[in-house]
Amino acid sequence: METKNKKTCYVTTPIYYSSGNVHIGNSYTTIACDVFARYHRLKEYDTYYLTGMDEHGLKIEEAAKKVGKNPQDFVNEIAENTKALWKKLNISNDDFIQTSELRHTEVVQQIFERLLQSGDIYLGYYEGDYCVSCEAFFTKTQVGEECICPDCGKPTRKIKEESYFLNLKKYSDRLLKYIADHPNFIQPESRRNEVVSFIEQGLEDLCVSRTSFKWGIPVLSNPKHVVYVWIDALCNYITALGYGSKDETLFDKYWLNGDVVAHVVGKDILRFHAIFWPIILMALDIPLNFKLYVHGWVLMKEGKMSKSVGNIVYPQDVTSRYGLDSLRYYLVREMPLGNDCLFSYDRFVERYNTDLANDLGNLVSRTIAMINKYFAGRVQKPTQIRNSISIELSKIAAETIEKFNDSFTNFRFQSGLIEVWNLVSRANKYIDETSPWILAKDEAKKEELNEVMYHLYESLRLVAIMISSVVPETAETILSNLQVSDDNRGYQKLTFGVTDTGKVKERIDVLFKRLDVIEEQKYHQNEAEKAIIEPTKEEVSLSDFEKIDIRVGEVLEAKKMEGSDKLLIFQIKVEDKVRQIISGIAQFYNPQELIGKKLLVVANLKPVKIRGQLSEGMILTASSSDDSLEVLQVTKENSFAKIS
Ligand code: MSP
Repeated sequence: METKNKKTCYVTTPIYYSSGNVHIGNSYTTIACDVFARYHRLKEYDTYYLTGMDEHGLKIEEAAKKVGKNPQDFVNEIAENTKALWKKLNISNDDFIQTSELRHTEVVQQIFERLLQSGDIYLGYYEGDYCVSCEAFFTKTQVGEECICPDCGKPTRKIKEESYFLNLKKYSDRLLKYIADHPNFIQPESRRNEVVSFIEQGLEDLCVSRTSFKWGIPVLSNPKHVVYVWIDALCNYITALGYGSKDETLFDKYWLNGDVVAHVVGKDILRFHAIFWPIILMALDIPLNFKLYVHGWVLMKEGKMSKSVGNIVYPQDVTSRYGLDSLRYYLVREMPLGNDCLFSYDRFVERYNTDLANDLGNLVSRTIAMINKYFAGRVQKPTQIRNSISIELSKIAAETIEKFNDSFTNFRFQSGLIEVWNLVSRANKYIDETSPWILAKDEAKKEELNEVMYHLYESLRLVAIMISSVVPETAETILSNLQVSDDNRGYQKLTFGVTDTGKVKERIDVLFKRLDVIEEQKYHQNEAEKAIIEPTKEEVSLSDFEKIDIRVGEVLEAKKMEGSDKLLIFQIKVEDKVRQIISGIAQFYNPQELIGKKLLVVANLKPVKIRGQLSEGMILTASSSDDSLEVLQVTKENSFAKIS
């Protein structure tokens, strides 16, 4: 075995379903893991960052069929798009696993057979309510009379099939003991408590194979079964390291002898990772030396992001207007470990302006401009410190480094960034308190002025190193403008006062241009309106559309409905029959002006009673974004409506 001279870090994202585009929610997980990986590389850990795609299951099989592709081509295309997206988001993953790859499928087959032989997996029958979207069975109480999935709200299907089961009961006491003996195994604590009480209620054995679809990994000894997608998916964390293959070097190094092994997951997949995965590992006799970090969700003001609400934000929507680092910063700064966070453009613009453009941006531009102005771009380490506020600033910097390390080691990036920004604010305040422009007027204060510039230079160098895992490009720009040598950028030099002579570039471009709040609001309002105009309803066929009977009708009578501000009652002659139609357009028309007009009417809408009055059809209208509305009418004498 390779001798180890560095500590190791292995960090994983969940593998994403190959079912659609990755939005800012999943991007959060990938960015957060990237921060963790970069931070450990900074700390000189030998780091391995894994992400990838979860490609099997009925849902993906059906999605591929819908677009006329075979599942393998379908998932490969999505994997390529996702890889390209991660590249754009500056994700530093070392590997990207697809569960349809041979290196994974072969090992999952072996794992399944091993568990069959050891008796941890056995053959039985399963009957239950199955949710295709969540790839999971639910109990009768969970789905209720209506058979609705408790997780995603979609209808479940009744499925009875011969199935293999994983014996969870056998391991539940051992797992509870493990959790008790390792208080940091699941973080934060609230999620750990959730898992403990779930196990204490009693675990049912888990159904781990399916016969109802084909797109999965066949069970070697009984190929009409495919391996349940969650068993298949969870194993990616070790198959990607070569477990069970000819070359287990990575597995030995990063898992068996690993120092930090971190799985990062959203709260919705907590149980799979905190219960099923540890039990699979126990059954395989693999040590559970990982920690599980559980984060909340990125929510919109309407709640969850969803296609039907039309509120999904994709990372490209944000980066194309605001650049990459501001998105990375926002997500990491806003998400606490364990709870949800909100995404709104208002909040985004506010954070951008306050933290990035004002606090950080100003500190950088003022510091560089002053070092150029007062010392031709050069500062020296002072031999003696004259100012007590300088001592205070260096002390705060030292404390910040400690708190930052503690937070970033424990996946608490939000707290870490708050600490770093306290230092940024303190440094900005230091400029105001020491008033370098006044010191500069007095030749006798030259050394004091140098002391101030040096303290700013060092603070900024430390800030840039600390934020480098979150906003790598910005940190690089700051460090190269401060002309910090490679040697002084490392973790060993994350301490105040290591620079002897600091030289800065002559001028620095603005890092984050301040945004005009009103202009941004207008822009996003416009975008939202454009999105509404885009078709959001499901496509219909021509024959569906032809079922709607649209006719031209002449308004004979129109009046306001008593007791309503919105409704008008019309008597409309459609061919030789007069119908009563009620329409909610009273705010837009004086009823008299519509008499004699020829309007388009849906003639075969099922009649309904509105406030006790019969309405036999619908008047077609068009509305515009400024809340106006007009009826659709024809002007030629003998026109009739025709669908063509
Ligand atoms: N394929 C499974 C994971 C298998 S891991 C062995 C899966 N895939 S997923 O694509 O649905 O979700 C992947 C991750 O994205 C989960 O951690 C989930 O919590 C996270 N997120 C999905 N929507 C999210 C937000 N809106 N916000 C934050 N994370 C979210 O589950």
